[in-house]
Amino acid sequence: MIKYEINGGHPLSGSVYISGAKNAAVSMLPAALLVEGVCRIENVPDISDVRLLLQILSDMGAMIRRQSPNILEVDCTHARNVTAPIEMVRRIRASYYLIGSQLGRFGRAKVAMPGGCNFGVRPIDQHIKGFEALGARVEQLDGYVCAEAPEEGLTGGHVYLDMVSVGATMNIMIAAVLAKGTTIIENCAKEPHIVDLANFLNAMGARISGAGTDIIKVRGVEGLHGGSYCIIPDQIEAGSYMAAVAATGGDVLVQNVIPKHMDCITAKLREMGVRTEEYDDAIRVIQDGSLRRANIKTMPYPGFPTDMQPQITACLSVANGTSIITEGIYDNRFRYAAELVRMGANIQVNGEVAVVDGVERLHGCSVKVCDLRAGAAMVIAGLAAEGRTTVEDVHYIERGYEDIIGKLCGLKADIRRIETYSDSRTDAAG
Ligand code: EPU
Repeated sequence: MIKYEINGGHPLSGSVYISGAKNAAVSMLPAALLVEGVCRIENVPDISDVRLLLQILSDMGAMIRRQSPNILEVDCTHARNVTAPIEMVRRIRASYYLIGSQLGRFGRAKVAMPGGCNFGVRPIDQHIKGFEALGARVEQLDGYVCAEAPEEGLTGGHVYLDMVSVGATMNIMIAAVLAKGTTIIENCAKEPHIVDLANFLNAMGARISGAGTDIIKVRGVEGLHGGSYCIIPDQIEAGSYMAAVAATGGDVLVQNVIPKHMDCITAKLREMGVRTEEYDDAIRVIQDGSLRRANIKTMPYPGFPTDMQPQITACLSVANGTSIITEGIYDNRFRYAAELVRMGANIQVNGEVAVVDGVERLHGCSVKVCDLRAGAAMVIAGLAAEGRTTVEDVHYIERGYEDIIGKLCGLKADIRRIETYSDSRTDAAG
């Protein structure tokens, strides 16, 4: 078992370097299946979701070389159309991109229904609608999605998404790259990682335009070739460190960010009284007074991201006054609130709305993580709380945050990782 032990109540200071975007990396690796050649990808975050996808690709016959911890060469030229083991697929939401990439490359795909964080029902009907618009026959059988292109292959189609979906936008884009003719996707998601995936595929020879707007056009090409690409910095990782400074106080330079991508988060932190200074590829965050209340509603980009909702709630639990947080993307993303309440927060959840009455301080205790961003919220709360917090089930956190302990120790946090073995030996790092 792995847990983190935090002695809270200390301001953060120094600088932190942000890794490559998780949700871009986990779409690009499956998309690399479309490429017959070597994809050299820089700024790949070293996180467990990425390691799992690399294992799946490698089991399919992809050649993977790690040039440094964050630079990979992925060559899927000789990949085979293998069904990834259900136990692996169910551990990661992004395994749904294998449906688009296997269908695009091999004309058929059999992929277990994806897992991922539990925020209520997370259907993939819009992905399926898109594959069908390209001519594929799609069935769900015994927990698997089975998709098959017609004999003549996929052909371009027109898809109007019923809701703005990150996964469906990217998956349809992936499947359409090698289809004959042009595909139009309307009502697309516009997150920075959508643009990043399109840029990655274009660097390998695809013809995608409009990514980052409501309408994406994919002109099918005969094949993709190898190339080099560097993943954008992770907006949510950066936002999580900014929120940590807001909650603990301090002065931190968050390096390797695209400030424009951070606007939706920076604007809210400013409203809460946090000072920020923007540079070309860094944001300095300074917090020395008390936080002000704020209302938040999560929305698709460029709105406030749902993936920052738990972290900002942790901050608002120690702000002056009452804040109202409305979750606009998922049915059930407040499961973590009960753990913050154990630390002394005053939060009432009613369906998609949480009312947070700020308290003077949180106090350390033992808390459990229920998903990735909830985990980041527990760490932030622990850093801000008085006394010792033990955070359990941190494997969720390590799915998406590279070296969180090393980075926080670099900011002078008192945090360590403790690995407990069944014979009760313990190992500590950081
Ligand atoms: N939805 C449907 N049908 C679909 C697809 C989506 O009803 O076919 C609904 C979802 O249930 C949800 C909403 O539409 O209510 C939006 O879901 P979306 O498809 O945008 O989410 P996702 O692709 O499953 C990705 C990220 C999530 C992030 C969301 C929203 C990956 C691997 N996951 O999920 O990231 O919360 O977009 O931005 O990219 C995280 O990183 O912590 C994380 C959960």
